[in-house]
Amino acid sequence: MNIDAALIEIERACGSGSVRTDEATRVLYSADASEAVCPPPDAVVFAHSPKDVARTFAVAQARGVPVTPRSGGTGKVGGSVAAQGGIVLALEGMHELDVCPQDWAAVCGPGVVLGDLHRAAEAENCLYPPDPGSLATCQVGGTVATNAAGPSAVKYGATAGYVLGLQVVWPDGSIHRLGGRTQKRVSGYDLVSLMVGSEGTLGVITEATLRLMPKPESIATLRCYWGAANSSKGTSSSKGASNKRASIGAWIQRARLHAPDLRCAELFDATTLSIASHHAGLSIPRGAEAMVLFEVDGDEAAVAHQAPRLAEAALEHGALDVVVEEQAAKRARLWDARRSISDALRKQARHKLSEDVVVPLSRLDDLIAACRELSEEYGIVIPAYGHAGDGNLHVNFLWDDEGQRPAVNQAIRALFERTVEMGGAVSGEHGIGLLKAPFLSVEQPEPLIELQRNIKRVFDPRGILNPGKIFGGASCPGC
Ligand code: LAC
Ligand code: ZN
Repeated sequence: MNIDAALIEIERACGSGSVRTDEATRVLYSADASEAVCPPPDAVVFAHSPKDVARTFAVAQARGVPVTPRSGGTGKVGGSVAAQGGIVLALEGMHELDVCPQDWAAVCGPGVVLGDLHRAAEAENCLYPPDPGSLATCQVGGTVATNAAGPSAVKYGATAGYVLGLQVVWPDGSIHRLGGRTQKRVSGYDLVSLMVGSEGTLGVITEATLRLMPKPESIATLRCYWGAANSSKGTSSSKGASNKRASIGAWIQRARLHAPDLRCAELFDATTLSIASHHAGLSIPRGAEAMVLFEVDGDEAAVAHQAPRLAEAALEHGALDVVVEEQAAKRARLWDARRSISDALRKQARHKLSEDVVVPLSRLDDLIAACRELSEEYGIVIPAYGHAGDGNLHVNFLWDDEGQRPAVNQAIRALFERTVEMGGAVSGEHGIGLLKAPFLSVEQPEPLIELQRNIKRVFDPRGILNPGKIFGGASCPGC
């Protein structure tokens, strides 16, 4: 690659100031919110229009320079880290936002902060449901590229359900519109769906048209606490006040029967319950070892009917205590505490790796038990929390001593193997990126991976777009 000549040509094409090579900028754009550690890219190119993206690709193709797209940089698997050097293509400057309530749609640049989209939609009485933990800083382009989800996916699903249309710049520099502003269409292959979750490896999203929903009239928030006896499997015979005790996973799986409008069921294990409670200034009931944060939303009457029914059923099935969070400020504090967990865990040990496995709901108890067993077997602290209502847990591996790293690697592989045996997937939410590339083959057979590599070759025959992601091949010292 001839990077110096390429950068001169890109700056000439995109305008002065569009290319930065100073060390501070390169270092700033060398990492995301994961543990991936790669050397800084050679340069950061700041795109302000689809044409800037096309111009960058035209030069990068000719000169063989890798291009790694990046919007908010909040990804959890190194997806926007330049694993093979070259250019980081910053899309944050493309933040046009147009909410069109008549079409139940919003047209967004890739650099629109998701929280801004939420607020703009709500001002029109609409809802854009996907809300990953990084809501305040993540940007639309990355959320589409990773098919981001978050707690409300129990009712509303992940980003894929909301992408009506995309404008994409392909690695050859051509610009296409896929889908559009209609609520549905069936014309040719569904390339919108192929792009969603493709982790910036097929093309660069320069605009997304996203479906909006009606804003719910009412939301009820419940904190349900569970004791040690039934915070995991094998407790159905335990004696207690109730003869209908359910293990926590079984209970979460059935909660929707009591509240069909359940929008989230977030699990906090003992460690993460302590972190979140401290953050929110809440005390933990005596004997509580786990908490599930339930939310029900919909029209007032439905919520008023379903929330107490859910609370009653939880108590009847073995919950120690249920607290209904009525004040908006307390609810906000609770969610703030929930969103802080990932960063808070990072401060608990010198090293952290976090996974986001997903299993069928009927296997949730088995996944919770597997985390405990792996912790005992490998002597590593493994807190787990997250989107239990979807069978998707953030399983964190914390360790201080460098010497424990081989055991951590074995424990992670064992977690993936057990997840796959349960019919699950190595990623339920964050994608494969750089960090999980070595594990894709635990879940998928080689011919299927090769088929996907071939799809990438159709879009990116020279392999300049985000190389080293999903299928591996990058060698970052920290990964
Ligand atoms: C969360 C992020 C880690 O749910 O996905 O906190
Ligand atoms: Zn999550």
